[in-house]
Order: sequence, then C-alpha cells, then structure tokens
Amino acid sequence: MKHKDIIKQMTLEEKASLMSGQNFWNTKAIERHGIPSIMLTDGPHGVRKQGGKADHLGLNKSLPATCYPTAATLANSWDKSLINEVGQDIGKEARSEKVSVLLGPGLNIKRNPLCGRNFEYFSEDPYLTGELASEMVKGIQSNGISACPKHYAVNSQEHMRMTIDEIVDERSLREIYLTGFEKVVKESNPHTIMSSYNKVNGEYANENQHLANNILYSEWGFDGVIVTDWGGNNDRVAGLKAHNQLEMPSTNGITDQEIVEAVNAGTLDESVLDEAVDQLLSLINKVRLDDQESVQADYEEHHNKAVEAARQSMVLLKNENNILPLNEEEKVAVIGDFAKNPRYQGAGSSLINPYKLSNPLNNLEDSPLNIVGYAQGFKRMGGKSSKLLKEATSLAKSAETVILFIGLDESKEAEGVDREDLKLPQNQLDLVESLVKVNKNVVVVLAGGGALELPFADQVQGILHTYLSGQGVGEAVVDVLLGKHNPSGKLNETFPIVYSDIPSSPYFPGDQVTSEHKEGLFIGYRYFETANIPVRYPFGYGLSYTTFEYSNIKIDRLNVSFDLTNSGQVAGAEIAQLYIEKVDSEIFRSKKELKGFDKVHLEPGETKRVTLALTRRDFSYYNPEIKDWEIESGNYKVQVGSSVQEIHLEETVEMDGVSPSIFLKSEYPHYAVAQVKDIPDSEFEKLLGEKLPPKTWDLHKDLGMNDTINQAQYKNWLGKSLYNLIMFFHFFFKKIGKPLTANNVYFVINMPFRQIDRFSGGKISRKNVERLLRWINR
Ligand code: BGC
Repeated sequence: MKHKDIIKQMTLEEKASLMSGQNFWNTKAIERHGIPSIMLTDGPHGVRKQGGKADHLGLNKSLPATCYPTAATLANSWDKSLINEVGQDIGKEARSEKVSVLLGPGLNIKRNPLCGRNFEYFSEDPYLTGELASEMVKGIQSNGISACPKHYAVNSQEHMRMTIDEIVDERSLREIYLTGFEKVVKESNPHTIMSSYNKVNGEYANENQHLANNILYSEWGFDGVIVTDWGGNNDRVAGLKAHNQLEMPSTNGITDQEIVEAVNAGTLDESVLDEAVDQLLSLINKVRLDDQESVQADYEEHHNKAVEAARQSMVLLKNENNILPLNEEEKVAVIGDFAKNPRYQGAGSSLINPYKLSNPLNNLEDSPLNIVGYAQGFKRMGGKSSKLLKEATSLAKSAETVILFIGLDESKEAEGVDREDLKLPQNQLDLVESLVKVNKNVVVVLAGGGALELPFADQVQGILHTYLSGQGVGEAVVDVLLGKHNPSGKLNETFPIVYSDIPSSPYFPGDQVTSEHKEGLFIGYRYFETANIPVRYPFGYGLSYTTFEYSNIKIDRLNVSFDLTNSGQVAGAEIAQLYIEKVDSEIFRSKKELKGFDKVHLEPGETKRVTLALTRRDFSYYNPEIKDWEIESGNYKVQVGSSVQEIHLEETVEMDGVSPSIFLKSEYPHYAVAQVKDIPDSEFEKLLGEKLPPKTWDLHKDLGMNDTINQAQYKNWLGKSLYNLIMFFHFFFKKIGKPLTANNVYFVINMPFRQIDRFSGGKISRKNVERLLRWINR
C-alpha cells in the first residue's frame, strides 16, 4: 500500500466517505488529511464542464469548449497521430478548466447500428477501436490529467441500459467486446475506467467480479480506479468488492453509510476498503490540479485542429464521373436545412457548447463557386412541406450541380434511446427523388453519426458522409467539395443495404430482461464477409480524388511490407489495411479480421514502402477452457487492401499452434457458416456454457429497487397511472416538436427505482421510494 500512513490515521467513516462524490462532478476533500477534491467532467469529444446546474444528459449549459468531431467520425480518419493530437487539445482545455478526469473516450463496440450512442464510439471492429482509443487516452493524459475510457463493458444499447442483462459468450466477450479495452489498458495506461450501467451475464458491470477482478486488474494489470457511470451503482458493497473505488455522483452519504455498516457487520473486510482508498489516493495524487500552475488553452488553434480533424474524417462514398471536386465558378444550388444548420454532434452527456461553429452555407458562399441560391428543402424534424419541396426543385433546375445537405436530426442519435430505424426521414428521401428528376448532377452531403440506408445511392452522382464533424464542419466540408483537401476517410463500420441485413437485427435490443448476443462474434464485416451477404459500402471503404497501387508484398518474421504508390494526379492519403484469414479453419471464425493499418500520405507518383507488424496474438482465438489465447496451427492468408472487400496483395504464412478441440465447426452448424440470424437456443447455450436466463419479467413477483416504472404499469392502478403520466408527457413533447425532451422523459420509464433518490439529489428519499414500491406492490 502506498498511503499506509494516511490511511491508518483515517476513521472508518472518513475512508467510506471518499468512495462517493461530493456533488455531481467532484470527489470529496478531507482537509485534515490534506486530501483535495478533484473534478471529473464529460467528454468525450470536448469538455462539458457545467458552471451552473449539473446533469448527465446535456440538459443544462456547459462552458464554451472546442467541439471536435465525435469518435465515430474521428475513427474514419484511421489516423492515430491526429487522434492523439485531438486528445492533447481536449486534455489541455480540461486542465485549463481544472478538470482532473475527462470522461472519455467511449469505446463500446458498435454491435448494432441502431444503438443511440454509436456516434460516440469508434468502430464495429475491436482492433481499430483499441488502436484509436489508446491514442486518445495518451493525448488526454499527456496533460497530467486522467482519461476515463468508458463504458466497461458490453454497453451495446441504450434501451433499458440501466437494467438490461447483456448475455454474451466468453469468446465473443474477449475477442469483440473487451479487446479494445484491453489494448487501451495495456498500451495507454488510463488512470481511471468507467463501468457501464448494464449487467453482463447476470451481474451488474459495476459489481462484476469477472470483468473487474479477474480480467481488468489481474489479467491486464490495470492499476487505476473504476468509476461508476453516473448513478450506475446498485449494491455499493458488492461494487467495492469488485474494485469500484469511486461512485458518482454524490449519494448524500447514503452509500458511504452502507460501507460503514458492512465493515461493522463483518460482511466487508476493512482491508478491501483500505485498498480502494489507497488506489483513489494514488489517482488524486497523479491528477490533482489544486497545486499545479494553471494552463491556457488556445481556442483558435484548437478550432483549426477541429477543422483538420473533420477534413481527415469525412468519407467520400460515391464520385460518379468525378463530379467532385467541384470546379471553381461552377453554378451550384445549395439545398437542405443541414447546410445552414449543420448537425455536428450528438445529444446527451457528450453535448458540447461549441466555442464557435461554422456552417457549410456560409463557407460555400465565401468560396469561388457561383452559388445560384439556397433552399431549405424540407422540415428538419420531419413532415411534408410541398412548398419547401417545390422551392428546392425549381432552384435545382437553375444550377449545373446541386449540393444537397441531408441527414439525421438531433433527436435521432441520443443518449438513453436507440434509433428506431436506419432510414433518413421520408421528406428528405422525397426531396432527393424530386431533385434527381430535374438535375442529373446531385451530390448528397450526409450528416449523422453512423450507418444509414441509402436507397438513392444509384440515382445521385456523389455522396460525401461528414458524420458528426464538430464545430469546424463548415470549413472542412467546403475544402473537400472544392478539392482543397483530398478526402481520405474510410468507414469504421459496414453500411448494409437494409437494416434487416444486420446480423444482430433479430435480437436487438433484446427482451424485457436480457439482450442475447446470439450472433456471437459475427458482427459487422465479420458477418457480411463470412456469410457472403452484399452490402452498400463495406468496412474500410472510402474514395479519394487520386488512385493508389499496391505491389511487392513480403513477409519476414511476421513483418508484412509492401509498396504503396500514388498513381493519380493529386496528392492524397491512403489507409492501407491488413487482414488475416485462416485457410480451412476447423473452428468457426470470421473469414477476415483486421490486424493492422497505416495511413500514408503520398505526392503524385510517389511510392513508399509500408511495414505492418503482426504478432502471434493476431492469429489467436480465445479459449475459455484454458482461459487463454491459442493459435490454430496451419496456413493463414495475409491480405493487404484498401477495404475489407478490395484486397490487392496476398501471401500465406504458416503458424504453429494447436489442433483445436473447442468451437469446432462440426459442433456449431449455424456458427460454422455464419448463419447467425436464426441461432437455436440450444446452439447458443452450448456456446455460453449454460442455460439461458428468462427473457421476460415475472409479473407476479413484487417489484424491487432494480425494477422500473415500465414494469409498474402491470402492477396496480398507481403503477399504471405513473406509467401513463410519463408516457403522456413523452408523447406531448413529441407532438409539440420537442423530440429531445420527449427522449429524456422516456428515459424515466426505464429508470430503476434505485435511481430515483440518486437523481433527485436526495430530494426524494430512499424511504419514500421504498414506500412508493410498497404501494405499487399492494
Ligand atoms: C453517461 C456517461 C457520462 C455520465 C456523466 C452518463 O449518463 O452514460 O457517459 O460520462 O453520464 O455525464
């Protein structure tokens, strides 16, 4: 123990008091021991420091800060140094605001494109996620503060996120959901990690001995502090036993008292508390800013970095007849509300109050283009308007080219709710239809934090996906449209043709109690490649204004090298990707797995030799029986390409390993051919190694603290009235055009009763919640 002396002098009550926050964002100080309070704040793509009223859903304003592109956007850059630099900037702004722990990056795996918070996450691929998130952590922590990678783990959906039990087999857990966190812990040494709200295989993540004690601390050697997600504590003592040193926000001393009582009753060994205090004190010493000189962030410089990050992250999906870049003085009609009011970030706890914000329309008007006019085109929040449609269509007739800005509105991708579908609103689709009839040169500029169905892809000439580009979106998009910046972004996720193609679509978001990850490790391209299902745009895909050639592959002791040449007319950057594929595998596995990449800048005609190093782990699968990684011996194809589908070079390497005795294709007929949309319970149970728990609520049981108001509707008139009242407000806010407020009201429906006293800041006491439950159960 590092702080034995202080800990010895502390009373039991003092020690317990450190285990939860002082208020919404700060830890407690204990002056008599010289322990200062430190501040934690969101994250992840900027600093959300609230000066006044606090909340965890972005309801109240925060201080102005630079709003960088969200993680889903940055991930399209595949640019480790850029992401490190963005991390450095965010860390600097945090430090200048005396924030010691920045709550990010978010690195949950995009299991399903409907997850409402996918815009905050990096990728469907764990390798890419881990590589990029590690850089973000390194960048943030270079300022002497802590990053807080979140949400550990398997926070795959927003629907019922505080109660849902994510059922996932150990192999998929390790290979898909934990690999990113493992990389981050081992490569960038975060000082804190945030546990997620959900359960994983029956235990709340925050109390999960397996996730915390066995994996995070023992296997990976994490030596930092686990922080609960805000209000994510269930049983405080069980959490402490699973290394949850810090519960946030404040619980007005309620759970501190629970710790004291457990020690006095002998159900909690005081040494567990001492160890937690020791770890917390180590964190505080590392990141305390009360005794540090203040730093100044240069917000103008940071804005330029935000613009650069946005440029590097946009993905050119289609460029028929080289419609882009636009020619100077081209007669252009700008259509679509998103040109004037860009959608540049998501909603919820990551909502940044941007220091400044550009918009594409202004930047287009300032460019050498001949802008013939702007038309709004559609109502942003949905609904027909023939007037707007007509206006836009007649404007389109007068131009050589139409630049059409469409996308998802603010309520579609938000914390606490999942998306209902992958579609763009009908009024926008109608507009595209109408415009392509009168002008054959339509370029669509998309805004939104992830994958979309794009039924019009064959009808328009160009598609540029800006994702959620942050405050520099205006400058960045115009630079790309005009060719001042050659686009180089590549998709961090697969774009299906329709949502029902998604492997987890039959299982997402689960039932009342559980969300079964029956598709196992076949998520994203792992499924589409193995099952050979066509997609709209594959993982790793993106176009450039130049062309690249790959040649001369050599493999020397797992170092893969090859030549990359810019064979076109303009400078550009290519993201070269390395995949491995087991030849004649006996176990079921993904046909291809990403194991390396590099983003290479090349002048026209220039060639560079690229080397990517593989490790033995890259060939391994996780074997729960031996609790370790192992390699199936035999041949592996090593493939280099410009997307998962466009492989340009291939070599074979032989690896020694084992002849597997587990996951044999012969024993898992559906997984063997990635036919994962109709996995029988028995095959999933075999993979899980246990029977599936009940999927639905037992309506005869009394409700407890972990049940929700949603369940109360089935109990008695009181529960039903409570439910109806909340749903009334939800629909009311929807009706009056306030979908974000409607989302937040809906969020209450799925809140467990245990949260009521927490989130009301103690105004509704635990006793009153218990009383309410008694009435509902009567
Ligand atoms: C979110 C976290 C966030 C926290 C604090 C929670 O609702 O899940 O990502 O850091 O609130 O705002």
